[in-house]
Amino acid sequence: MRDSEQNRIISAVLKEEDLDSEVNLRPRKLSEYIGQNKVKETIEVFIRAALQRGEPLDHVLLFGPPGLGKTTLANIISNEMGVNIRTTSGPAIERPGDLASILTGLQHGDVLFIDEVHRLSRTVEEVLYPAMEDFALDIIIGKGPGARSIRIELPRFTLIGATTRAGLMTSPLRDRFGVISRLDYYRVEDLLTIVARAAGILQVEIEHDGAEEIARRSRGTPRIANRLLKRVRDFAQVRAQGIITREVASKALEFLEVDPLGLDQLDRRLLTAIIKNFGGGPVGLETIAASIGEEAGTIEDVYEPFLLQLGMLARTQRGRVATAAAYQHLGIKMPGERQLTLW
Ligand SMILES: Nc1ncnc2c1ncn2[C@@H]1O[C@H](COP(=O)(O)OP(=O)(O)OP(=O)(O)O)[C@@H](O)[C@H]1O
Ligand SMILES: [Mg+2]
Repeated sequence: MRDSEQNRIISAVLKEEDLDSEVNLRPRKLSEYIGQNKVKETIEVFIRAALQRGEPLDHVLLFGPPGLGKTTLANIISNEMGVNIRTTSGPAIERPGDLASILTGLQHGDVLFIDEVHRLSRTVEEVLYPAMEDFALDIIIGKGPGARSIRIELPRFTLIGATTRAGLMTSPLRDRFGVISRLDYYRVEDLLTIVARAAGILQVEIEHDGAEEIARRSRGTPRIANRLLKRVRDFAQVRAQGIITREVASKALEFLEVDPLGLDQLDRRLLTAIIKNFGGGPVGLETIAASIGEEAGTIEDVYEPFLLQLGMLARTQRGRVATAAAYQHLGIKMPGERQLTLW
């Protein structure tokens, strides 16, 4: 992650400052998991069915932008199934041997959670295929003509994979998941409930309207909602007798340069560059990246999804385009508007 991203208060990526509270604020049961109703229902049915049959759960793939609750959901699933969870990540499993030792250490029914599952190496992935399908490991012993393959039986386990980039996953891996669930940005009313719940746990006094103001500016992301709540709490404590009203929340967020739609300076810089330097687009990703001094990958993964979701940015075959909503939000007149009025 670049420094600019680490410094952004509205970054959805996990930051140092989130670490303590993420553990406390994380819901432990499906019933405490707010929003994402479709995903929740699907998972609930699969869990119930597996429990009724007395079988381990089928492998689950969770995908969606950062901070929407993939890790939380993986932990909830293991909790609801009443099994242990072993957590690792794609880049942490360097060699097939690393994976083999994790797999042989699991107990019947356990959950193996692999975060950033799209980053597994090919050789590790190939060991994973028979493990997922047949609960077996094929190991080659020896070298050359004397080499032979032996098969080791594994306990039946549930693999839960999480990724922010489902498009980067190989299809053989994707096809081996029985359940694929996509998490979407949260609605304001769900974020409001999340903020109110977090305020309760953190013992922060907050009014309904104050929670709503935070929810609105949280970019559809619970991690950001919780982070903004903590920052607003500090502001309320020092400047406003500790109670978060709508006024306190909007003042605090204005102070933190998070605008009423949750955009910060970087988002505005990006949109302004497209409008001012490239006539509103279409302009290629690489060109935008060079003009604002960010990496194309960061723009694509981090800034764009939310601007697309808000309808301020559009992707066309010839590049990115700033929409009328972006002009309006930034208070810039759209070209052609004058001509229209003259007509
Ligand atoms: N549905 C939810 N209800 C309440 N709180 C939630 C929910 N989803 C996420 N959160 C909160 O948001 C925080 C971030 O969620 P989580 O770490 O699960 O996201 P993630 O999708 O795994 O992110 P990343 O892609 O960075 O790994 C959690 O600690 C939790 O407090
Ligand atoms: Mg996670």
